[in-house]
Amino acid sequence: MSERIRIFDTTLRDGEQAAGVCFSARDKVEIAEQLDAMGVDVIEAGFPVNSPAEAAAVEQVALEVQRASVCALARAVPRDVAVAGDAIRHAARPRIHVFVNASDMQLAHQLNKSREQVIGMVAAMVENARDFTDDVEFSPMDATRSDPAFLAEIVRAALAAGASTINLPDTVGFAMPEQISAMFADIRAKVPEVEDAVLSFHGQDDLGMATANSIAAIGAGARQIEVAVNGIGERAGNTAFEEVVSAIAVHAEHLGVSTNVDSSGIWTLSQRVAERSGIAVPPNKAVVGGNAFRHASGIHQDGVLKHRETYEVLDPVSIGHPVGTEIVLGKLSGRNGFADRIQTLGFELNEAELACAFRRFQQVASEHPFVDDQGLRAIVAATAPGRPVAPGFSIDL
Ligand code: KIV
Repeated sequence: MSERIRIFDTTLRDGEQAAGVCFSARDKVEIAEQLDAMGVDVIEAGFPVNSPAEAAAVEQVALEVQRASVCALARAVPRDVAVAGDAIRHAARPRIHVFVNASDMQLAHQLNKSREQVIGMVAAMVENARDFTDDVEFSPMDATRSDPAFLAEIVRAALAAGASTINLPDTVGFAMPEQISAMFADIRAKVPEVEDAVLSFHGQDDLGMATANSIAAIGAGARQIEVAVNGIGERAGNTAFEEVVSAIAVHAEHLGVSTNVDSSGIWTLSQRVAERSGIAVPPNKAVVGGNAFRHASGIHQDGVLKHRETYEVLDPVSIGHPVGTEIVLGKLSGRNGFADRIQTLGFELNEAELACAFRRFQQVASEHPFVDDQGLRAIVAATAPGRPVAPGFSIDL
């Protein structure tokens, strides 16, 4: 039986921490509405104590979102919790996410507090957050670089104070998958009562491990994964929404888990976030990059023309891709890909004409990044002049 993984989207909070991003309240509401419509479980709308405008934007998201939980972030200090609680008070399903530094390095150099003081803050602030909502998430920041014994202690305190989700963040994208598995196994062994809560993982992509680490966390018992669309976020970004949702869909049977996300909206969601954040999606980005379903080399083109799955693990239709599998003709393309496109354009060339056109194509392609349909038509016109197009096609040369 498949267990459900909750998708916690933090595009509007940690995603907005990407350098140069500034979502308007309208951006936040529109992105949140799309996330909600796609079946995302939790939407972290922002960090309300940051500014009155941020608090107002979170409040608007809370008012508009119908189905998902709407979450506000708060440090483990009274004012943060109060402002967060106020911002999500109209949500159908309000959540407060309380966090505190947990590694000795961050306690010594940033927070300047002892472990005992931090435990006290967590107990008090999770309890305080419970005055606003029953749904409180707790994150010990920098969990992957924290002392496991202290991590267990702080998680125990948060659970005793009423946290129902325990999120273990790899705040600086430091860990490797096996370390994530070990961290979750350790906390489950040391704090048995954590089984009554939802275990969650928040990954950062500093070493490019965020998605692999998230999948490792699922294998070790996490049932909520925190993600941001297009992987945007602080520094090198967060775990990418589209990668985790797609990896779970592709490997559902092996992992024994599924999500509630309707993945057919992934493409438009990605485009919207790219447009509103001002961060373009790199062409080679997994799932949503412009080249994700483009095939440029001869062997791969030949394969996908015979059977798409020979060189694709994900069906572009499943993520709402507007073009789908695409053959891009260029220097490394082969004769089959070339012939297929020529035929699609409506030309009926005999073997000799095709061979001649292909030789010309290779010359052109060796000097250009790719050859588009106009270029192909010009090549046919030059190598097989007067060649008729197939009935029903009109070729504009
Ligand atoms: O990166 C991090 O640790 C965070 C926490 C607040 C979850 O963003």
